[in-house]
Amino acid sequence: MCGIIGYVGNKKANSILIDGLLALEYRGYDSAGIATLENNEIKILKDKGRVKNILNLDGYDKLEGTYGIAHTRWATHGKPSKENSHPHFDNSKTFAVVHNGIIENYNELRAFLTENGYTFYSQTDTEVIPNLINYYFTKLNDSSKENNEKILEAVSSATKDLKGSYAIEVISPLIPETIIVARKDSPLVIGTSNGENFVASDIPALLTYTRDFYLLDDNELAVITKDSITFYNNNLDTYNKEIKNIEWDASAAEKNGYEDYMLKEIFEQPNSIRETIGSRLKLNEPCNFDDLDISADYLKNVNKIFIVACGTAMHAGLVGKVLLEKLCKIPTEVDIASEFRYRDPIIDDKTLCIYVSQSGETADTITALKLSKAKGAKTLAISNVIGSSITREADYTIYTHAGPEIAVASTKAYTSQVVLFAVLAIHFAEILGFGNSEITINSDGGTITLDNLKKDILSLPKKLNNILENTDIIKQFADEAFKEKDVFFLGRGIDETVAREGSLKLKEISYIHSEAYASGELKHGPIALIENGINVISILTDPSLAKKSISNIQEVITRGAKTMVVTNQDLEGHEFDYVIEIPEVCPLISPILSVVPLQLLAYYISKNKGLDVDKPRNLAKSVTVE
Ligand code: G6P
Repeated sequence: MCGIIGYVGNKKANSILIDGLLALEYRGYDSAGIATLENNEIKILKDKGRVKNILNLDGYDKLEGTYGIAHTRWATHGKPSKENSHPHFDNSKTFAVVHNGIIENYNELRAFLTENGYTFYSQTDTEVIPNLINYYFTKLNDSSKENNEKILEAVSSATKDLKGSYAIEVISPLIPETIIVARKDSPLVIGTSNGENFVASDIPALLTYTRDFYLLDDNELAVITKDSITFYNNNLDTYNKEIKNIEWDASAAEKNGYEDYMLKEIFEQPNSIRETIGSRLKLNEPCNFDDLDISADYLKNVNKIFIVACGTAMHAGLVGKVLLEKLCKIPTEVDIASEFRYRDPIIDDKTLCIYVSQSGETADTITALKLSKAKGAKTLAISNVIGSSITREADYTIYTHAGPEIAVASTKAYTSQVVLFAVLAIHFAEILGFGNSEITINSDGGTITLDNLKKDILSLPKKLNNILENTDIIKQFADEAFKEKDVFFLGRGIDETVAREGSLKLKEISYIHSEAYASGELKHGPIALIENGINVISILTDPSLAKKSISNIQEVITRGAKTMVVTNQDLEGHEFDYVIEIPEVCPLISPILSVVPLQLLAYYISKNKGLDVDKPRNLAKSVTVE
């Protein structure tokens, strides 16, 4: 979704702003723009389309300003166009503003400003902001105050009128070499270095310049010059903020020789899950979560767990549910964040709500978290981004440590989230006193000890490597499948959760219509769509369900489907078009392996279609609006 960049220092701002926007491209956008100051006048260059288009706009090379603001827009109010692109001016061209978020009361504010003589050139909600600032600035007819004081007050008053979410940057010729920022429910970080400061929507965009960051909180403002950053609360009291040193280095957010970020991230998975496991899990020792201080007394009192998330993170939650129920015997429900927050869930102080978010900035997930906190539940965030909004809201946070994920379609974040759920479930089971119990893993009564489950988790990186070294059959299938219009993904039990993730991956980056179904549900409708040549992809890793799943695959073969099976079962005597063999592992954690061929399949199909794998149309990496 919308991305924000700001720079103030001694260098020419234009190229730094453009580089920052390019680093934010992965968030998804349809228009871009920058503003710097020239001869006391704000110069704005903006248009719909790619960031690089700005380089060709008249006047770009002549921009000499050493500070400025920039924006990538993901259209919400008003179609992608030059007028609707940010930065936006107020009527007097005294204030230029970029904004990420949604102003829910923009209609009322627009009517109010119109009554007061303001006019509007765009259809955006954002355009009310610079005009509101102008309105308050003009009202503050106090000659005893300096412009910087008056403008800060005007920005503060304007933001108090805004309902919804915002991260904004404001510049004005009246306060040279200064950027004012403010945020509520939309991400904004400030990177700091010697004699220059930066603003961005997320940390990876600034890693080439600095690893020292301030994370702005809700209802905070900051005034940024090249040598200073001053933080203010809502009442304009100043205060100190802690600087955060980020360990990720810039190369972690680069392609490192891979054609696309997504491919790099798929191949990073053996290592990223190693990082997730870290020192939390060792053989013959209880799990150790330095970062999670949950007591036995509290956990024994928990009678319900909700896992709440969006997209791929929600799919990781589906596996988390199985793990938590099997290992800890606590009833667990999985909810989509955008539904959870409006369905009045039954929550009290005996409920633990786990929020999963790679970015930690997904608007619906954050709002759902706030809701469950207000209802008395304890909240636990699972995130990949240190200091992200969700981690600042939650009672407890554990990090996946998967490293920056840049491709819009999530891959390594998913496998790390699932691994973390597995280790967390073992940890909880140990706290609850189930450390020596046999865990029932499937409907055949198969069991596993926690020690053996730990061994299986530790074996995952090697097994993942094995899958990544054998991609030929997946490529062959992709060479045929990329011409198709519809694909079905089937699975039973835990395999059904992977079917959902495989289906999502495929539709996200190949634009092929795909559906995921529980294999047993096929006969209740979708089988009507099976005809000659249609692709059906099945995941088959649970021995107790294998026979039933094979019968379901036979049913689609009989109706002419072309089949691909991802399995670690012995399928001798059965004929499928493509069989992708994966290593054996306890079915409870098999998604960490079985998802990988599906990630690769989506990737190769998208490449075959000549699509932009990392930046699929209409999608955003970080969905910061509801
Ligand atoms: C967007 C992304 C998905 C991601 C989802 C949740 O839809 O495109 O890849 O799974 O948001 O994001 P989160 O950062 O909360 O995990």
